[in-house]
Amino acid sequence: MKTSTAIKSVQVTDKKIGEGVLKVHHPFMSLTDLSDEGGNSMASYIVRGGNRLAGDVTVSGSKNAALGILSAAMLLDGACKIENVPDVADINVMIEICKDLGAKIKRDNEGTLLIDPTSINTHEAIEDKVRSIRGSYYLLGALLARFGKASLYMPGGCNFGTRPVDQHMKGFEALGAEVSLEHGIIHVEADKLLGEHIFLDVVSVGATINIMIAAVKAEGTTVIENAAREPHIVDVANFLNTMGANVRGAGTDVIRITGTPVMPAGSSYSIIPDQIEAGTYMMMAALTHGDITVRNLIPKHMEPLSAKLEEMGAHVESGDDSIRVWLDENEHLKPASFKTMPYPGFPTDLQPQATVLLCLAEGSSKMMENVWDNRFQYVDDLKMMGADIMASGKLAVIQGGNPLTGAKVTARDLRAGAAMVMAGLAAEGVTEIVEINKIERGYERFVNKLQSLGADISRLDR
Ligand code: EPZ
Repeated sequence: MKTSTAIKSVQVTDKKIGEGVLKVHHPFMSLTDLSDEGGNSMASYIVRGGNRLAGDVTVSGSKNAALGILSAAMLLDGACKIENVPDVADINVMIEICKDLGAKIKRDNEGTLLIDPTSINTHEAIEDKVRSIRGSYYLLGALLARFGKASLYMPGGCNFGTRPVDQHMKGFEALGAEVSLEHGIIHVEADKLLGEHIFLDVVSVGATINIMIAAVKAEGTTVIENAAREPHIVDVANFLNTMGANVRGAGTDVIRITGTPVMPAGSSYSIIPDQIEAGTYMMMAALTHGDITVRNLIPKHMEPLSAKLEEMGAHVESGDDSIRVWLDENEHLKPASFKTMPYPGFPTDLQPQATVLLCLAEGSSKMMENVWDNRFQYVDDLKMMGADIMASGKLAVIQGGNPLTGAKVTARDLRAGAAMVMAGLAAEGVTEIVEINKIERGYERFVNKLQSLGADISRLDR
């Protein structure tokens, strides 16, 4: 019996997907991640705290931009070259998924990909690996643009509560696609994609990129209103334009895409630096009373963090493509209030790391999480290390100044994992962080980069 669920029908039912049972109100509104696997989940990091981090560190290409750009490359009508692609687990999975579709991809050691998508021979991405990362959902937009149809497993990714995709579906429908969910596979299909005016109900990075990608070959003009403005949205738009598309307004809340029937490609594009990786190292400088120059970043992207670091008493000096952050031995961090917001607000992906910093600031601080509904799961691990934090709903109140002591803690997700490494760097004694496969989804050569800054960290393979 066919169990396809039309997007327009609102039902309350339990759906069996894989081995899990999903409570569904609206099929695309309350989907929770099913998988957070990948890499060697048995490996751990051992951190001996107390070292002051100093020196230069170079930021890698943006993981989240690369996920969008790799997907967007799948709709091209010719080959292209993409530079500054980070060598991290999520991107490597994404490359494998694209190869499974039939794309020819060659990678050199310098982070450059040569991609020929003209050999793609299927509109279906229904391998298990699709479920292990979040960014695979951009293939819905890309394959829809290429074939007029796409089928994809519900994507996975970091688990911090429900991660709905209703806004993506709303956009595809507006462009003329039929959307359904069958056995955990999303199907989208259109006789013809026609440009439309789409007003997003929530500011969503993923929906903005997915709709932008799908609309690139649609007939006429698509307008996305209430679009997200994150740097990687601009990067995906710039990539598409370099390959022949006509996308205007990315980086503002109104994006206009005038459809181009053929995307000739044939050019090279270099991915922007990773804003979140850069921010993590900037905070590590303040955390360890260190002095780090973070190179190959875009200072403008770091402004929400730079302002907060200065408010907390750290020194921040911006260059053209670098930022130096330092805190002297005799200086102290001051407490502060943070609120995460879509760009240009303070990024949710730096929230756990900033919370660790607040643990060291003497006095009472607040962290308000406004993007995700369950992104304080790591707080219990910090408490185990001696932190005084009360977290309830979207608010955490941090009573800073208690010394942290090393413990065995878990990387609950990618950024929470980075926060645990930070806590370990600041703690007395040894911290073991387990489930580091989640950290390695998004931080390139994390251990090497930290060691070069003077951290006492090693990777233990079991
Ligand atoms: C992207 O996730 C990033 N992932 C996340 O980074 C990041 O935390 C997030 O944007 C916010 O900045 C990638 O780019 C692969 P959203 P995304 O759609 O696109 C709600 C990391 O650590 N929403 O902007 O999935 C949603 O529930 C990762 O690198 C809907 O209601 O996030 C959330 O509250 C983790 N309906 C808010 O919007 C939808 O259809 C923002 O989500 C879509 C989203």
